[in-house]
Amino acid sequence: MKIALLGIGTVGGGVRQIIDQALGMTGRLQISHILIRPEHDKTDPRMTDDYADILGDPEVEVVVEAIGGLEPAHTYVRQALESGRHVVSSNKKMLAAYYPELLAIARQKNVRLLYEGSCGGGIPWLAALARLKRIDHIQSFQGILNGTTNYILSNMTEKGRDFAEMLSQAQELGYAEADPTDDIDGLDVRSKVCLSAVQAFDAYLKPESIPAYGIRHVTAQDIAWAGAHGYTIKLVGSGYRTEQGICAQVMPMLVSDRNLLAHVGANLNAVSASSDTLGVSTYIGQGAGRNPTAHAVVQDILEIAEQPQLPMNEVQTAENDLSGVQGVYYLSGRPAETLRDLQNPDIPDALVTRKMPLAELLERLSKLDSQLPFVAQLEETDKG
Ligand SMILES: NC(=O)c1ccc[n+]([C@@H]2O[C@H](COP(=O)([O-])OP(=O)(O)OC[C@H]3O[C@@H](n4cnc5c(N)ncnc54)[C@H](OP(=O)(O)O)[C@@H]3O)[C@@H](O)[C@H]2O)c1
Repeated sequence: MKIALLGIGTVGGGVRQIIDQALGMTGRLQISHILIRPEHDKTDPRMTDDYADILGDPEVEVVVEAIGGLEPAHTYVRQALESGRHVVSSNKKMLAAYYPELLAIARQKNVRLLYEGSCGGGIPWLAALARLKRIDHIQSFQGILNGTTNYILSNMTEKGRDFAEMLSQAQELGYAEADPTDDIDGLDVRSKVCLSAVQAFDAYLKPESIPAYGIRHVTAQDIAWAGAHGYTIKLVGSGYRTEQGICAQVMPMLVSDRNLLAHVGANLNAVSASSDTLGVSTYIGQGAGRNPTAHAVVQDILEIAEQPQLPMNEVQTAENDLSGVQGVYYLSGRPAETLRDLQNPDIPDALVTRKMPLAELLERLSKLDSQLPFVAQLEETDKG
């Protein structure tokens, strides 16, 4: 099966290596084109800087998008699907933004659009959801879906260090990008939650409708307060069925030490689904990086080679139903002072709210005109 690879950076380079060195020898998969930018040297005879070369070759059956960003990735993927090619992408931002449009084309052309590497990197998380759905109704999912922020939080917890110090260390180690905004503000997890909800519930929530709070304002004091009260702070993305529909959010969480997520350290990801007959099942592993992500991409290509005709599920666009969601929230930092009236008087040593509607908290936060406080949900357990 001939494959065109768009982009030869971290993920694309890993895909080329796996296919050329491992699977290529069997002749089962073959990379026939590699799209690069015109300004780069063509160091591989398969390289081209003209996407028309790829679309014009009738032997190309699969287009692997590994260039990242919204454009031209979106246009390239749309054109590949329109031309009847299967597409594999790990580009969560682009897929979450354009999912309904791309799915409609894939369904119309009866081709597959797969994106395992976009959520949880090397963890077969979306595949696990698909398997669960063959038997069960999925009620909810919840987990750590960003390795960069987990690395920062884990190191803050273990070493008592500050956020800024751990962020720059993550950047030095290549875990965090030069512009870490999408990671630390929860936007990367928001895209993954959107795509996980598509898979779990066959429902598409617009990414902008999913409230996303990150860890930009977390301090060593927050970590210490959590630790002293039996919690560990993690950035958690979740989605669940409500009485009316589907709800999703991204927010740091003070996770009870009895919760498995509290013990998921380093840059690992871990995500759980709750379903009818299996109950809670948890999937853990490398959520990013060259080889784990490339592995997931190649698994998707093999899935297409094995089942090219499998139709894509129908997905309904839905509202993010926050109406019935209630929680207890931990707030800190100077901007939190204006929210003191929300405090639970039984917890005097921090601003922990009474149980309250999420919508009310979001409304209050939206009225803070400058900086936001650190906001986290407190996991409610029966320990009180
Ligand atoms: N890295 C990970 O661990 C990981 C994990 C999961 C998902 N992903 C996703 O995978 C995608 C790729 O990430 P990455 O880390 O591999 O990024 P990357 O290392 O920056 O690689 C992207 C490559 O695409 C090239 N490119 C960009 N625009 C192009 C264009 N118009 N035409 C041809 N080539 C172009 C880039 O060339 P230049 O160098 O010249 O810009 C670069 O070589 C992203 O959507 C990312 O979110 C990454």
